[in-house]
Amino acid sequence: MRVIGLFCAFVGSLPATANSFVPSTSHGSTNLPTNNEGTIKMTSDSNIEPVYAAKTVSAFDKYKKEHAQSIKSPSKYWGKLAREVLDWEVPFDSHRVLQGDLTNGDVRWFSGGKLNVAYNALDRHDPKKLAMIWEGDEPDDVRRITYGEMTNKVSQIANALKAKGVKKGQVVTIYMPMIPELAMTMLACARIGAVHSVVFAGFSSDALGSRIQAANSEVVVTADHGLRGSKRIPLKDIVNAAVEHVKDKDLVKHVLVWERNYEGPESEAPYEMNSNDVRMDILVDDQRPYCPPEPMEAEENLFILYTSGSTGLPKGLVHTTGGYALYAAHTTKTTFDLAPDDIFACVADCGWITGHSYVVYGPLLNGATTFMFESTPVYPDEGRYWDMVQRHKITQFYTAPTAIRLLMRYGEEAVQKYDLSSLKVLGTVGEPINPEAWRWYYEVVGKSKCTIVDTYWQTETGGHIVTNIPGVTPMKPGSCTLPFYGIDAVVLDPADGHVVEPDENGKAEGVMAVRQPWPGMARTCLGDHARYKTVYLKPYPGYYFTGDSVMRDEEGNHFIIGRVDDIINVSGHRIGTAEVESALVAHPAVAQAAVVGRPHDLKGQSIAAFCMLRKGYEESPELLTELKMNVRHEVGAFCSPDLIVVSPTLPMTRSGKIMRRILRKIVCGETDSLGDISTLADPSIVDTLIEKVGKK
Ligand code: PRX
Repeated sequence: MRVIGLFCAFVGSLPATANSFVPSTSHGSTNLPTNNEGTIKMTSDSNIEPVYAAKTVSAFDKYKKEHAQSIKSPSKYWGKLAREVLDWEVPFDSHRVLQGDLTNGDVRWFSGGKLNVAYNALDRHDPKKLAMIWEGDEPDDVRRITYGEMTNKVSQIANALKAKGVKKGQVVTIYMPMIPELAMTMLACARIGAVHSVVFAGFSSDALGSRIQAANSEVVVTADHGLRGSKRIPLKDIVNAAVEHVKDKDLVKHVLVWERNYEGPESEAPYEMNSNDVRMDILVDDQRPYCPPEPMEAEENLFILYTSGSTGLPKGLVHTTGGYALYAAHTTKTTFDLAPDDIFACVADCGWITGHSYVVYGPLLNGATTFMFESTPVYPDEGRYWDMVQRHKITQFYTAPTAIRLLMRYGEEAVQKYDLSSLKVLGTVGEPINPEAWRWYYEVVGKSKCTIVDTYWQTETGGHIVTNIPGVTPMKPGSCTLPFYGIDAVVLDPADGHVVEPDENGKAEGVMAVRQPWPGMARTCLGDHARYKTVYLKPYPGYYFTGDSVMRDEEGNHFIIGRVDDIINVSGHRIGTAEVESALVAHPAVAQAAVVGRPHDLKGQSIAAFCMLRKGYEESPELLTELKMNVRHEVGAFCSPDLIVVSPTLPMTRSGKIMRRILRKIVCGETDSLGDISTLADPSIVDTLIEKVGKK
């Protein structure tokens, strides 16, 4: 089964000890954690019973009941919450809470209702309360911004966007470092009904240019530079190159530039200004600090976010106003057990969905104080996260397994120096967390007192769809556990699409799907609804297909195994093979390329590329460096392959289809289970590649 083929991608770093949760065979017999591990107390049914989750029994029963009700009557469940959680300018129709379905791909939530997300995230909260604590690259570079200040500033930015001709429904591309102005520009778009498209500032100018073009975006907002670990990233220069790259030369009307060290309108711009560039600080300073929030239909677009698919160009996933806002708010509050005075820290970048939902929208819609972080976990040293927790008294801390694995390497001392007693909930997202990292997070960071929430979700889902809930549902290392309210999670047989019944041990294995719509789901791909349906709804009619394989245990806990498509997950970054391959073949030496993921101790997966050269070119260290540079240049440094194998040909079927499955097995070292290779045009290539990879 293809599902299992990818499994190697995630277990490379996991020791196959008897008490590891990792399935011991590729067909998934699972050894659950035993009860003699460290300080984690297990109940007889091998669930973890941390101090923080002590009230589980009755709360767990309540969850089961509420979850069942939310599935049975989604309109009732979400309708009630939508009225409680959000302020509506025009109430939605009670009989049209949910319309459409997954079969037709015409899902609509809260029809008839109008609201503004920026108003909900800002104006309605106590203006004196801290909306955001921001910490820049240097630990002493801290800003504290109240709700009142942020409301005014967002209004000024909104007026500035309007002054430059931005209208409701237009896409504004944002390419910025993690500074408060990034969040505020997103909210300013939401305030006037413009649709933001944040592009992660690690993407190259070419990748940015194609996203500007694909979204038909006339306005780009950037900053002069970003900072990461004292390195200066010249964002404005990258945007200049991106604008050059945009095919439609007249498309971009304005580039608006935030200046990091703005010194007033008289100061000279410390970067190259083109004729259509505008200095954002000067423009914003001139604006009135009030901009009426645009009442938006619940189903009007809030933002798009490009994400990699298995084929072709990245898809611009569309999230709409009412449903997304409700889902981001409700999951933040519930999964993180958010209380009014909490300092909520999600250290993801706003260039990804995690930053959208859990740095900006979720916390602010709840009126919480969100913590925004510009730098890296190891700058100026490996204690940075914990130092921040101590200094800002952070209560929830949300990061990715790759960061935890990295920090584990520095030992416990780097954590123990700090007072982490403010912490209540520790979150993880982006990839499966291996039990060693889970335990370290739980014991060393959380002192066995915090709840670890392993949140499984995707750009497409808008917010968590499978996660444990502090004090409500039990934790299990390595498992994202149980579906969130309103999520009808099912395991499907990839071969025939039927719901997999539990086997004699109560386990079910297959692909992960959802049986009914939820408010946070992306509604379409920008300008290409057919693609949306093809990728998510058609593979298993009647279901939303996640693209992940999963094992569900006898208690209903989900263990995500990995992608079943050609998406690679490097350090929690989602990378499409097609993008990297097209960057490689853009080099004149490369005739054809195939890219696969392989296990990596720190990053989860790394990229391995197989390249077939054109006549007249030969392998050399210089060429390999050039190929890596091509990927950096065309997509971004975070997509650079760790391994490039020059190959006389690629394993192709007679009809010319590259069999990545075989390449994956080769880089995973699983050469004794290659499966049927007789369909290859030239089966002898397999031995050649095994030998070549072995030598690397
Ligand atoms: O494979 C799953 C993995 O990340 C994919 C989604 O990537 P992206 O859209 O970039 O969103 C990442 C942040 C939400 C999923 O299809 N993934 C995400 N969270 C988990 C995970 N795999 C296992 N466990 C998780 N908690």
